[in-house]
Amino acid sequence: MKRRQLLFTLGGALLGIPIIGSLIYDAIAKSKTQNQTSYEPAAAKAPVAKSASTADAKVNSKVNSDAEISLETTEEPLLRFAAIADNGFGSADQMAVAKSMWETYQQKPYAFVLMAGDNIYSYGEIKLAKAYFEEPYAPLLKENVKFYAVLGNHDIAKTNNGLDQINYKPFNMSDRYYTFTKGEVAEGTVEFFAIDTNGNADWETQLAWLDLQLTKSKAPWKIVYGHHPLYSSGRHGSDPKLAAKLSPLFAKHKVPIYLCGHDHGYERFNPIDGTTYIVNGGGGAPLYKFTGLPQTAFVSSQHSFMTFDVYQDKIITKAIATDGKVFDRAIITKV
Ligand SMILES: [Fe+2]
Repeated sequence: MKRRQLLFTLGGALLGIPIIGSLIYDAIAKSKTQNQTSYEPAAAKAPVAKSASTADAKVNSKVNSDAEISLETTEEPLLRFAAIADNGFGSADQMAVAKSMWETYQQKPYAFVLMAGDNIYSYGEIKLAKAYFEEPYAPLLKENVKFYAVLGNHDIAKTNNGLDQINYKPFNMSDRYYTFTKGEVAEGTVEFFAIDTNGNADWETQLAWLDLQLTKSKAPWKIVYGHHPLYSSGRHGSDPKLAAKLSPLFAKHKVPIYLCGHDHGYERFNPIDGTTYIVNGGGGAPLYKFTGLPQTAFVSSQHSFMTFDVYQDKIITKAIATDGKVFDRAIITKV
């Protein structure tokens, strides 16, 4: 055990935090296993196993090498944040990801979490927020880690078209689409653009707003996130119509990262017109099969979350499994 980890554990044991956190996760995971929520039977019947498919293995071999491990650095980032999506399923898998998030936080604290939609299955009902959000992430919420949500397709079903979730304070949504800035050091400042990618979004107004906000932004890093992927090899696949709406703006404003979910698994693409697209939909709902695309840099359908370490000249992204292991890392540089 590393010294810092030991100190955390000893300190936490005195405070009772990590031990209680772990006990809570173990107990809830057991009960969740016995009470799995049913959702989309086709997906639930045929989840993709953790072991990579043929396509996974082929793509994984491109990056999962010792050389990539050298991306690890001891230099402390200027800002660190995490991200999840497709998490609010109330499942043992969600709890396993939440536990991994908490354990990672104890070793490498992050300031906040981007939550890229399908926050509450199956219909976004806010009455389930306690069970599917407040309980799974209780240790993080207690530490005042804030979650910044966007609306997924499941979040607009029985919620006054998402309004209930927008009004739910712990989701920190100032509107259907909004922007916020984080980072105490100027060089590490990130402006986030949280967007509504649902089909019934007011696209004309939203795209004009996004163009204006990206134009006005003085932040050295600009990250856009929404629920739906522009590019994906998962069950839902790429969305050329969404790409036609958004990718010209990403190219115009040199957006380095677009983060999303919707397809349940993890897929990172090599930069397309300068933007790195990442599907991060392994937050807890049943997994989908991914096949990989020519532009795919890494794909693995497993339950997971991400962290982002922001530096002046780069952002190091990590995809982290339920066992706490980093299974994909990448360096994103400015466009
Ligand atoms: Fe979705």
